[in-house]
Amino acid sequence: GLAKILKEEGDQVACIIMEARTPPAEGFLEGVRNLADQYGIVLIFDEIVTGFRLALGGTQEYHNVTPDLAAFGKSMSNGLPLAAFLGKREIMQIAEDLTISTTYGNEALSLAAGLATIRELKEKNVFEHTWKMGQKLMDGWLRLGDELSLPLSVNGLAPIGAFDFHLDDAQLKQDVWTLFLQEAALRGVLFRRGGLNFISFSHKEEDIQLTLDVCREALEIIQTALEKGDVGGHLRTWDIRA
Ligand SMILES: Cc1ncc(COP(=O)(O)O)c(C=O)c1O
Repeated sequence: GLAKILKEEGDQVACIIMEARTPPAEGFLEGVRNLADQYGIVLIFDEIVTGFRLALGGTQEYHNVTPDLAAFGKSMSNGLPLAAFLGKREIMQIAEDLTISTTYGNEALSLAAGLATIRELKEKNVFEHTWKMGQKLMDGWLRLGDELSLPLSVNGLAPIGAFDFHLDDAQLKQDVWTLFLQEAALRGVLFRRGGLNFISFSHKEEDIQLTLDVCREALEIIQTALEKGDVGGHLRTWDIRA
């Protein structure tokens, strides 16, 4: 796909902006990097979700492929508002000659939070923990799907894993998700429909186990409801879409 487009219009392309949040096919990211180099295109990674979650250096460290520019945010300051745009000197240098005015440019609290976050991530070996806990959660979902014979698939990388229901009937799928969210929430665990599940250092073994226990109860209800063809009858809430 990309190689063909660039062959036809490569000289018109200024940059490639992409995210690498799911496991790429073998050699895919290296292939994009090579194509960008071949056509003189700036490669930009959006690391807003992956940064400070897959590794300290984000998806580029995890996959060992370096973009020309990258955007980071979200977990880089553990909840305080902070984002960063960074990259190769020859490109970033251009900003030196631009007037960039920001009302909150001198704000330092979030910067302190960012530094403290990086220190904690390093000192406490946080990524080893989040990968381990995330894998436990993903393995648990897979096992539950198998045991209960549900059309459930697991996707993504362990610290930011997700699952989904595979049902051809769009309304049924919608209702199954709503029922899942409803039953999990009633048991104290909030999920988002198909959303990424971000593992943090605060998620310990017992939290993952509790989450899986709640998933089991919710999925058992779904299994019975699917068997009886009565998923809609179990809903006690309006349609939950997010
Ligand atoms: C991958 C990704 N990129 C960019 C953004 C947008 O960030 P902002 O709202 O700060 O512009 C988001 C927001 O969720 C995101 O998930």
